[in-house]
Amino acid sequence: MSAHLFSPIKLGTLDFPNRIAVAPMCQYSADDGSATDWHIQHWMNLALSGAGMVTLEMTDVERRGRISHGCLGLYSETNAAAAKRALDAAKRVAAPGTKFGTQLAHAGRKASCQRPWEGGQPLKAGEDAWTVVSASAIPFVVGHPIPQALDKAGIEALIEKFGNAAERAAQAGFDFIELHSAHGYLLHQFLSPLSNQRKDQWGGSLENRMRFPLAVARRVRAAAPSLMLGARLSVKDWVDGGFDVEEAIKVAKAYKEAGASYICCSSGGNSPLQQVPTGAGYQVHLATAIKEGANIATRAVGMIDDPLHANEIVTTGQADMVALARAFLADPRWPWRAAGRLGHDILAAPQLMRAVHLMKQWAVK
Ligand SMILES: Cc1cc2nc3c(=O)[nH]c(=O)nc-3n(C[C@H](O)[C@H](O)[C@H](O)COP(=O)(O)O)c2cc1C
Repeated sequence: MSAHLFSPIKLGTLDFPNRIAVAPMCQYSADDGSATDWHIQHWMNLALSGAGMVTLEMTDVERRGRISHGCLGLYSETNAAAAKRALDAAKRVAAPGTKFGTQLAHAGRKASCQRPWEGGQPLKAGEDAWTVVSASAIPFVVGHPIPQALDKAGIEALIEKFGNAAERAAQAGFDFIELHSAHGYLLHQFLSPLSNQRKDQWGGSLENRMRFPLAVARRVRAAAPSLMLGARLSVKDWVDGGFDVEEAIKVAKAYKEAGASYICCSSGGNSPLQQVPTGAGYQVHLATAIKEGANIATRAVGMIDDPLHANEIVTTGQADMVALARAFLADPRWPWRAAGRLGHDILAAPQLMRAVHLMKQWAVK
């Protein structure tokens, strides 16, 4: 039996064997931006999962753009070599057709923090903290360090750094780049009127607020023309007066014109005042709104872990793909589980075939 979740899809120039994506997930386990043994095992595990699209974690374009000391980067040749080593290993064991992407990012005012399991608070004196930057000098939360508002030269330098990181992504062998414009990180800080209160050409109207993210998209496109480009957006801030669906549709259209082939539709992360009505598939309607409003392929994400629900989302055209994050940490064989539940063949590496009957039994429970 065939399930739409397991039907192929083309995004830009890339063919994906199915509509299941691993959503990007920071591992906070890098060494000055370079992938470590943790990444090698994690990426190899995801490679074996059978998800057609593996989007690796937020990867920062400069040291100052890291959330924590453990965040991955592509700001040096050493970073690129380490990423290539981990990616080569993952590709050697990957299920046929699996594509790997890096999520290029800058944390802006949400940088210089402890790892989540160390408390996740801004780094303190003695913890090698650094000055954070943003669109405007407004902290994420009162009491957190006040960011330095980037000046024109700073913005232009960062556009270049996104370009340099994109070149390194191509060198490392990634198949696609996702621009992280969500969750209150730097590109989202420029897009949202909550965090961007500039009076110059980079703030004010939506056209001005999206000028920097768009310049980044064009620079990345030019720097890595052979890689498919997509973007993740926080389609809503979930705060009155914040960034919302109508503006997100315009940004998605502009990203499409700049060469993006999909939008991953997430939300929130830019204000502690957000009121998010979470629940199974709570962001799916945002993926539908962007798909219909901007006429671009979308990936739905957020609390989608039931295979029947995932299949329904793509079958009914609410989104073109689904992305799962925590489900893949809990069960890196989730696509096997979904195949078992949907009566689809489980495509396992030959070394693992003797376990397939077990997954078929577990999946129907
Ligand atoms: C450990 C962890 C790390 C994450 N890191 C990132 C990241 O690097 N980039 C990003 O856009 N979202 C990140 N997210 C958000 C996920 O990609 C996803 O949008 C969110 O967890 C909701 O999906 P889920 O319900 O399937 O987990 C992270 C989530 C988790 C749990």
